[in-house]
Amino acid sequence: MDLESACTARIDDYVAGGTSNLAVDRAAAERLLTALPEYPGFVVDSRRYALWAVDAMLSAGIDQFIDIGAGIDAVGVVDKLASWPESAARIAYVETDPMCVAQLESRVHKDERVAVFPIDLFAPSWVTDPEGVWRLLAADRPVGLLMASIAHYELSDDVLASALTDIYDKVAAGSMLAITHLSGGQDPIAATRLEQAHTQAGFPVRARNRKELAALVRPWTPAPWAPNALPGALRLGIGLLARKAAPPSSSASS
Ligand SMILES: C[S@@+](CC[C@H](N)C(=O)[O-])C[C@H]1O[C@@H](n2cnc3c(N)ncnc32)[C@H](O)[C@@H]1O
Repeated sequence: MDLESACTARIDDYVAGGTSNLAVDRAAAERLLTALPEYPGFVVDSRRYALWAVDAMLSAGIDQFIDIGAGIDAVGVVDKLASWPESAARIAYVETDPMCVAQLESRVHKDERVAVFPIDLFAPSWVTDPEGVWRLLAADRPVGLLMASIAHYELSDDVLASALTDIYDKVAAGSMLAITHLSGGQDPIAATRLEQAHTQAGFPVRARNRKELAALVRPWTPAPWAPNALPGALRLGIGLLARKAAPPSSSASS
């Protein structure tokens, strides 16, 4: 296992006051905090938004989830699951960092409703692979997808949009997608500051605004239909909740 490279999940753990981090993560986090002292606000708000989104998905009847870039603590979704002991809920954690995978596996050990998949979001065809997450989840029922604080690390709009379209094409109608993303809002100077601070820390990001993010998630349909009017404005970022609409019924088209 690589103990010499910092990992964004452990950097966020450190800035949020956690203890699951290494010296290399703390050094990178301190570089980031020097340039961007308010960064912890984004981490806190992003996780809070992800949990709101899980509640919105549950309210919409979704009981199976894919948490992509789950990190170490998976934004507390495991703990939420534990509070539904009788439920049929299932969670697939998708994560590339081997140490995060190991930590998640130790947390979900023996809970057969949860599994960790060492899958790269951008690997071709992962979402159609029957040996992947669909070993745990039912492909013919809606899924709740979480992408908390991961999309901004992909610098290419095309790569990100293509991955989101592949997921859309595979999942059942009624599926929902929640994304949190670093953003300078409409202020290009704020966006540049966010990007420069992350580049200096060794983790380049794209700080996209809401319009840019909404364009990338197409063909997903963004809220306002969402229940509970989720607050989408995060400190230093945005939250977006979207849904795959049901196809028009044949009687409507005839
Ligand atoms: C900033 S952390 C966010 C962790 C968690 N979602 C949270 O909000 O606290 C981003 C996570 O995404 C993972 N990650 C980055 N690129 C990935 C990819 N292409 N596929 C799957 N996971 C990825 C990283 O290893 C890291 O654990």
